[in-house]
Amino acid sequence: MKNNIVLCGFMGCGKTTVGKVLAKALNFEFADSDSFIEQKEGKSISEIFAENGEEYFRKAETQAVKELALKSDTVIATGGGAMLKTENANALKDKGFVVFLDVSPETVVKRLKDDATRPLLKRADRDRVIKELMSSRRPYYLTAADVTVNADGDATDIAREVIMLFNKNH
Ligand code: S3P
Repeated sequence: MKNNIVLCGFMGCGKTTVGKVLAKALNFEFADSDSFIEQKEGKSISEIFAENGEEYFRKAETQAVKELALKSDTVIATGGGAMLKTENANALKDKGFVVFLDVSPETVVKRLKDDATRPLLKRADRDRVIKELMSSRRPYYLTAADVTVNADGDATDIAREVIMLFNKNH
């Protein structure tokens, strides 16, 4: 029985924003993989990347995902890189209805214009990096997902569509 909703997709696709709306509407718990890691490590994602490196972060992410995947009646927001590891996707799919929040690169560029919390995007050519990373990651999100929802619009409308699909499919 799939009794979690797992949100995946690129940075800025709205996993956390939509996830909170969803959890409230369904009376589910909300869990965010990045926040879980930050709490466990006692530092921010940026600090983890700077002090311990990406490889360390990815190991912590797998650990976090495996713990969160065991929950029930929970909306789980994953980090944008989590679904690149089959191990993570499989753990989350076990009890989770996986939703890919699909946005255009233009939406991501706009939403993350003033964001300084994503270490992978701290660079002068970030718009180009966003486009390239999004297209190389897209197949992973599609493979992991049970359904894909366009997420360029408003969080409330997106949450409504996700609930409809969850009720129909799980
Ligand atoms: C990452 C996405 C971030 C965070 C880290 C790496 C990625 O999460 O896990 O900065 O590789 O796409 P969000 O997708 O929640 O921004």
